[in-house]
Amino acid sequence: MDKNILVTYSTKLGSTKEVAEKIGKTLKEKENNVDVFNIEDVINLQKYDTVIVGSPIRYDKWMNEARDFLKNNTKVLKNKRLFYFFVCLTLSSKSERSTKRGQKYAEYIRNINPSLNPIDVKGFAGAVELKRVPFHTRYILKFLLKLKGASEGDYRDWNEIEKWAQEV
Ligand SMILES: Cc1cc2nc3c(=O)[nH]c(=O)nc-3n(C[C@H](O)[C@H](O)[C@H](O)COP(=O)(O)O)c2cc1C
Repeated sequence: MDKNILVTYSTKLGSTKEVAEKIGKTLKEKENNVDVFNIEDVINLQKYDTVIVGSPIRYDKWMNEARDFLKNNTKVLKNKRLFYFFVCLTLSSKSERSTKRGQKYAEYIRNINPSLNPIDVKGFAGAVELKRVPFHTRYILKFLLKLKGASEGDYRDWNEIEKWAQEV
């Protein structure tokens, strides 16, 4: 049977939007009814049986908009098949340290709203171009990336994203 699926995301620089769109496209190929919306544009959650929520990690956190979305919609989200995903540069490295940090991110996101019980919390490697980051943030980001053992670039693995969407 076709499912009604919402893929909703927050983003700052656009890479998470493209990940959400890829997930949406993959799900549509399986004849589901799929909407892909920025979290700020979601009005009615009632019609969906599955909700997929995604956000980049910035300064070790999901974006405020995504956290608020989970907190403000507890009642309605409780009755959905729920999935979360996060996009970050930590996962651009396959080292043990990065994998562990990725697991920590997943654990933290799973607990943002302890009343909700997502079926899966998936992390994807993201993308960043330093020149697209506001000048005043660039130096902080450079430092942060060094700390995480990451560097600028596009590390999104479209096959991995597609595979996950197929499993949903
Ligand atoms: C200001 C800033 C802070 C970030 N902080 C983190 C972080 O703490 N951990 C991490 O793994 N990646 C971090 N990243 C990398 C982003 O998660 C990654 O670039 C993501 O793809 C950005 O998503 P967006 O294009 O949808 O905004 C940061 C990026 C920026 C620009």
